[in-house]
Amino acid sequence: MSGRKIGQRGKGLLLAVLASALLTAILAFGVTALLMNIHERKEEAKNPFFRVVEITDETEDPEVWGKNFPLQYDLYKRTAEMSPTHYGGSDALPHVPTPEDPRTVVSQSKIELDPRLKRMWGGYAFAIDFREERGHAYMLDDQTYTGRQQKPQPGTCIHCHASVYLPYKKLGDGDLIAGFEKMNAMPYKEARKLVSHPVSCIDCHDPATMQLRVTRPGFLEGVKAYKASQGIQNYDVNTMATRQEMRSFVCGQCHVEYYFKGDHKRLTYPWFNGLQADQILAYYDEVGQTDWVHAETGASMLKAQHPEFELWNQGVHARSGVACADCHMPYKRVGALKVSDHQVRSPLLNINNACQTCHRMPEDELKARCEKIQDNFTQMKDVALNGLMDLIDSIKAAQSAGVAETQLKTARDFHRKASFLIDFVEAENSTSFHAPQEAARILVLALDHIRHGQLALAPTLAAAAPATAPAPPAPPETPPAAPQESHS
Ligand code: HEC
Ligand code: HEC
Ligand code: HEC
Ligand code: HEC
Ligand code: HEC
Repeated sequence: MSGRKIGQRGKGLLLAVLASALLTAILAFGVTALLMNIHERKEEAKNPFFRVVEITDETEDPEVWGKNFPLQYDLYKRTAEMSPTHYGGSDALPHVPTPEDPRTVVSQSKIELDPRLKRMWGGYAFAIDFREERGHAYMLDDQTYTGRQQKPQPGTCIHCHASVYLPYKKLGDGDLIAGFEKMNAMPYKEARKLVSHPVSCIDCHDPATMQLRVTRPGFLEGVKAYKASQGIQNYDVNTMATRQEMRSFVCGQCHVEYYFKGDHKRLTYPWFNGLQADQILAYYDEVGQTDWVHAETGASMLKAQHPEFELWNQGVHARSGVACADCHMPYKRVGALKVSDHQVRSPLLNINNACQTCHRMPEDELKARCEKIQDNFTQMKDVALNGLMDLIDSIKAAQSAGVAETQLKTARDFHRKASFLIDFVEAENSTSFHAPQEAARILVLALDHIRHGQLALAPTLAAAAPATAPAPPAPPETPPAAPQESHS
């Protein structure tokens, strides 16, 4: 009985084992099939790639790339659209075309909105024309036709305003860096003839794999110097960066502070001491860089421009690994597909995709938090800019009162430093959102320089001043001869 029982149990066991094996097999097959299906769909969603045309390392025209990647190309073209946000985005203003400037639409002038900026840059090309930036589609035209072209500009300018990868390689007989060096040294008008598109697919993508790549010599060299300051030697961004890092580095090719080094106007990112504003200022002081001489005070000045990459680096988002592309090129659903939104723009025009993937709160609340940060910053920047105007007044008064040259020299040096730091956060385009506390720290440092500048003049000014009120500001003097332009 027990034998039979055992036998029956054995048979039952065998059946059960067989059944479960079969079930496992079926399940495994099912799961694998499902996984394969999901994987395929994901791949499809990630890279809906039908090779319609051959794309090589010589294909510059984005329209040709667009044949293989029509969704990305359509979004890329939409960078021509203009919509304002409270502090950013862009306003489309009509412009009557002239032979010198055929544009029919331009963006808002920033120096007209805030005349203090004009005075801050007294004697420099930025006091002639400085506008709100707009979409990538305009980068080449806006540079070609800016009023700043009234002063001769170098070929270096083109590095960040055109697709330069192929033109550099052609100019350098296949050598990117050699071509870069040649174009830097050319006059703008001559170099301009060698380029034909705003930033294009080839500038951010490897045509064979579509992987992100850095093609701009300024960043290749700049990030290498920065990494060296952190103890990492011979850093090669294209082989050593992670994919997530590349999602910011491709933007850091252009959205950075820069200067033109030496007679050959070599484009240089000043990151030898680090990426913070005061580290950059210390570097400029070490190498004795002067961009222009201030029309009213005679101080040796520095101009800062668009340090988005540097400021973002100091913020909590960068700290948490959130890349430029996460907010400015978020995934977007197009039918069944998910693509990176190549309509690079203000994330506040796109909060749903840009922020709500991480922050589960209503759109209005996110916008309010962002604008609160920007309002606070604007108030602080106002105080600092007023302080800067006061320092310029003090130095002018001291000059007319015949204050000793040594004291004036000290005050002018504080003018240079304060102005650069305020300019750094003013030129940064997020109105501090990328790193609000860092922006506040920079403004406090600037105020300290203003205070020291005024203290340096205080004793003599007090003696020279009438008992009642400070001397009224004198009319602008003719600017001392400025050195050749070294910035836009
Ligand atoms: C966490 C999201 C986030 C990240 C990450 C981020 N930004 Fe921004 N960025 C913003 C917001 C928000 C604004 C403010 C937009 C406004 O005021 O309309 C902004 C503004 C800007 C602007 C000005 C846009 C305009 O319309 O005026 C530029 C340019 C910019 N960012 C570039 C960058 C670059 C380059 C990086 C990476 C180095 C970066 N951002 C990283 C959220 C982000
Ligand atoms: C080749 C240089 C270059 C690269 C690379 C580049 N930008 Fe720009 N970007 C510019 C220039 C120049 C402008 C201003 C164009 C103008 O005002 O005509 C601009 C404008 C912008 C604006 C303002 C758009 C608006 O509507 O006001 C944003 C936002 C922006 N860029 C973000 C990014 C992000 C994010 C990346 C990386 C994914 C990036 N950029 C890569 C040069 C570049
Ligand atoms: C300023 C840099 C930049 C430019 C210019 C650019 N892209 Fe991209 N592209 C990106 C980034 C960032 C991603 C996201 C890549 C990642 O996450 O690995 C991306 C992703 C892609 C992808 C992968 C699928 C997807 O949507 O995520 C394709 C395909 C693509 N881009 C095509 C193009 C085409 C075509 C052009 C020209 C019309 C172009 N890109 C121009 C930065 C750029
Ligand atoms: C990829 C994820 C991600 C995206 C996209 C993102 N954030 Fe954040 N955000 C974070 C993280 C992580 C923090 C740090 C706080 C934390 O750990 O919760 C943060 C912090 C913040 C803070 C607090 C800032 C501070 O200084 O303490 C604000 C405000 C904010 N985010 C707004 C935004 C807005 C607005 C957008 C869209 C333009 C955005 N975030 C997009 C992940 C993200
Ligand atoms: C390192 C990259 C880089 C270089 C080099 C560069 N630009 Fe730009 N430029 C940008 C970026 C990024 C923007 C958009 C952000 C902004 O306007 O602050 C911009 C915006 C502009 C604008 C539109 C806004 C404005 O300022 O009116 C003009 C015009 C311009 N640049 C002219 C020039 C000229 C002239 C030169 C050479 C002296 C030059 N740029 C060199 C990156 C660069």
